[in-house]
Parts: sequence; structure tokens; C-alpha cells
Amino acid sequence: MKTLHLPILALALLCCSCQEPLSKVTDRVFSLAEAQYKAMDAKLSPNRMPVTFEDGKFKDGKLNGWTSGFFPGTLWLIYEYTGSPEVRAMAERQTSKLDSLVGMKTHHDIGFQINCSFGNAYRLTGDPAALEMMKAAAEKLSGRFNPVVGCTRSWDPGKRWNYPVIIDNMMNLELLAETSRLTGDGRFIEIAKTHANTTLKNHFRPDGSSFHVVSYDEETGAVLKKQTSQGFCDASAWSRGQAWGLYGYTMMFRETGDSTYLDQARKIADYILPLLPKDGIPEWDFNAPGTAHAMGMDAEGAPKPSVYLWKEGDPVLRDASAGAIIASALIELSTFTPGKEGKLYVRTAEKILRTLASPEYLAAEGENGNFLLKHGVTNLHGWSGVDIPLTYADYYFLEALLRYKALEK
Ligand code: GLY
Repeated sequence: MKTLHLPILALALLCCSCQEPLSKVTDRVFSLAEAQYKAMDAKLSPNRMPVTFEDGKFKDGKLNGWTSGFFPGTLWLIYEYTGSPEVRAMAERQTSKLDSLVGMKTHHDIGFQINCSFGNAYRLTGDPAALEMMKAAAEKLSGRFNPVVGCTRSWDPGKRWNYPVIIDNMMNLELLAETSRLTGDGRFIEIAKTHANTTLKNHFRPDGSSFHVVSYDEETGAVLKKQTSQGFCDASAWSRGQAWGLYGYTMMFRETGDSTYLDQARKIADYILPLLPKDGIPEWDFNAPGTAHAMGMDAEGAPKPSVYLWKEGDPVLRDASAGAIIASALIELSTFTPGKEGKLYVRTAEKILRTLASPEYLAAEGENGNFLLKHGVTNLHGWSGVDIPLTYADYYFLEALLRYKALEK
């Protein structure tokens, strides 16, 4: 038996030794990012921000679109790694395009928009004007808070929901938390804590997975509906939603030290980790048809078969953005969970990052509309944004690599 195992051991050792060190992977990815994002900056219209590359076309969007902060944010992350004055100038110019954002009609994602752009600007340069923008945006986001519900409203009232709160909204709390920490104005973090507590009570299932949308009665605070918008069905676990929750509760523990949030983040990680495919990149929904825990097309809230074009035998699409967000969150979570558990989180994140940095997911220079990652999904429920690059996938991928690098210090 011993002799039988020797070649396997030798092969394993050989594989370990020939694996590209993650520091080299990081160098390679940031050098590609610098080239791709400079090219993207050069082609971008003055009042637009990159969104995706679809059907062979680069697609940009309005400055008040929910993803508008990720391009300046990504430039800040590239500047953080490379120290390039040219990239810093681009980051400053792209960030200042969002100067007028708080004067526009906004939505809950002003948290993402301002924290990724001005938040990174303030973190890396200490520019007081960036902090002023964070304060103005935190005021604006706080205006969406209803104390009876105990949450900031995600989307404005519509046909399906009057007071919808989506799990994604956990991410917008970071702007509130950081603004309180930086200014000493405790109003914002109090709102963030109440929102996180209400979400913890109403969005999660006993297994640690979460609903996408919870809709409330704004007069009484009663929960009216628990449904999905972008997931496979109401009872399913939309993978990016699980990623937002994991990241959001990890961040809330960092900002408050309240162990309830740490426990919740660990519970979400316990749910996600066993469901990740071998290469670490999640399917777009952990219960989509074709996955190991598939729910049926007859499930409540499942997409209409005429819209959802997947057929038995088709591969299940992955979502690189969910993978990148999960990797970034797990690395931060590992810093709060020493021992075996933290090591597992780092190992999982490393696996995800290596897959994302492989040719299967990482674009070659000049391709993919100058985005970095391929194979993201916007909304497979409505069959839109299918298998495309996503600006936020790139942002969290680079953030995760920077976080991993910081672990090694
Ligand atoms: N926050 C919207 C999304 O994750 O698609």
C-alpha cells in the first residue's frame, strides 16, 4: 500500500511546487488591470460609467445607475497596488464625475456608489472634500430609513412591493458605518445597526440562506412578502444575494464589534461553503435547475419557462461576481476567526481567486470590453445580463487580492 501511495504523494508535492505563488498571480492581475482600465478610461464618455460588454459591444450607463461607483473604485484599487500617478489622476477624474450625485434622484445604492469612489479616495488620500461627499451621501441614504420598519427602503414603491428591502442593501450600510466612524456622528451607525438587526430577523432562513426581497408594511412594520427578484424562485438562494449577506455581516462586525454579526457571517459561510463547486465559483443560484439542490420550475416565484431559456443538460451558469464578493468577504472574516475555521476561509478564498485568475475567467489584454472577469450574471431570472463581465465583479476581485496580500504581512 505504501509504495502505491508514493507516486500520488510525489505528484501532489510537484503540483504544490509548480503552483504560481498568489503574490505572482496578484502582480499579473494588477498589471492586466492597469492596462485594461487605462483603455477603458480612454474610451469612456464624460457623463457615463462602464457597465458591461455584451453582444460584442461595450455598454456604459448613467451616473446615477447603481454600479457607477465601481469604475472609479477599481481605479483607486489599482492605484493602491501600483502607486501609479497616472492611474491616480484617472481615479480622481472619474470620482469627481459623481460630484453631482447627491443632488440627483437617488436610491439605496448611493452607499455603493459613494463608498467605492469617494470612500476609497478618502482612505487613500485623506482629501477632506471626499469626506464631505460621504457625509452628504450618508444623510441622503438615512432619509430612506423608516424607524417603524427598522430598515432603509431599497426600491421605491412599485407594482409588486410597497416597501421592499433587498439583502443587497446590507452593502450600503458600509457608507453609514464608515461615515460615523470618520466623523463621530453616531446617527448613521445607529441606522445601520437597526437595519442589520431587522434584516437578520426577517431575511434569513434557519439554514443560513436568505430571501432576496422582504416587503414591509410601512405603517406597521409588518412583513408582507418574502420573495425574489433576481434569484431562481422565492425559496431559493440567489448566490450573489448570499455573497452580499456574507460581506455585509462581516463588515458590520468589523464596524461595531457586535458578535451577533460575526455569528451571522459564520452561519452564512457555513451555508455557502459546502455548496461551492470544485473550482470555487458559485452557480448563479444555489438552487437553480441543474444544481445539486435544484428547485423545480413549478416552485413559487420561479421564472416563466418562456423567459428562462435553460434546458435540461445545459451547463448551469456561474456568477464570477458572486465568487469575487465571497472571496473578499471570506478573507476579512478569516481575520476575525483564528484557527481551523479562519484557515478554511482563506483556503476557499484562495481557490476562488486562482480560478478567477485563470484563462477561463480572466480576459486577455484588449478583450472583454477591457473588463477583467468574464462569466458574470446580472439577472438570469429575467434572462438579462447572461454570461457577461460586470464592473462590480472586477472591483471585488481586486479588493480580495489586496485583502489577501494584507494577510501575508
Ligand atoms: N444589487 C444588485 C445586484 O446585485 O444585482
